[in-house]
Amino acid sequence: MSMSAIRTKVLSARVGVEVLDVDADRLLHDDALAGRCVSLLEQHGVVLFREVHAGDEIQVAFARKLGPLVQFGKYANPDVMEISFDPANPNAKYFPSNDYWHIDGSMDAVPAKTSVLSAHQITDEGGETAFASTYAAYDELSAAEQRRFAGLRVVHRMARIQRLSYPDPTSEQLADWARWPDRVHPLVWTHESGRKSLVIGASAAEVIGLDPAESRALLDELEQRATTPDRVLTHAWSVGDLVLWDNTGLVHRACAFDRSQPRRMHRSTVVGEESIK
Ligand code: OGA
Ligand code: MN
Repeated sequence: MSMSAIRTKVLSARVGVEVLDVDADRLLHDDALAGRCVSLLEQHGVVLFREVHAGDEIQVAFARKLGPLVQFGKYANPDVMEISFDPANPNAKYFPSNDYWHIDGSMDAVPAKTSVLSAHQITDEGGETAFASTYAAYDELSAAEQRRFAGLRVVHRMARIQRLSYPDPTSEQLADWARWPDRVHPLVWTHESGRKSLVIGASAAEVIGLDPAESRALLDELEQRATTPDRVLTHAWSVGDLVLWDNTGLVHRACAFDRSQPRRMHRSTVVGEESIK
């Protein structure tokens, strides 16, 4: 089935577009839709389908049209990572750090390309997911800043992001986080497309060559400027919503909610094609 006409609605100035008139059946069968989503992701960073109730099977089939999927070996269905604080969830202890601005896979040589996230169980309040463009963050630097940052390199460290959630880690936690080797990325990512974005977020531990206070101040300032409320799309979920985001040109985070209430999201993630350079 090929039916490429789709109606869209822009969600905010810098980030986000909603695709209207799409249901789960069309996600599965409209062969032109994935290609349209790729263009919409380039333009808007986030693509929203409201209340499509795709379920894992259709989510995975649709995500595969965007590329091969990251395998999450700890989960019964390795194409789908469940995000929840259920103690039975094998990654529950790492999820508190989703509350801080981040790029998925920032500790990897090649971070994920696209993430596909759907809401299965939501809380009455909070639990939104927020997105901010790191392309816009670069574009809105002054010309002098763009020149100054061109050669800077940043160490990304698992312990930096995790410590925000666990300020007094146990030796077991420290040993666990140390299983992720430090990763150095340029501050400015020049994509193969020619566009540039900032590589920022909670794993950014230090700028090489700056003294620690200056380094921290710069990383914090860049993150703050990129994520002022007017620059952020905050998506308040309904069950069945499905969101795609361009993980290479955005930071995202989960917003607070009452953790005694269950919240469960399902994520499928398309393998990255481009290292940060
Ligand atoms: C993620 C993530 C945010 C959320 O799945 O990578 O950061 O709101 N999720 O659950
Ligand atoms: Mn994430």
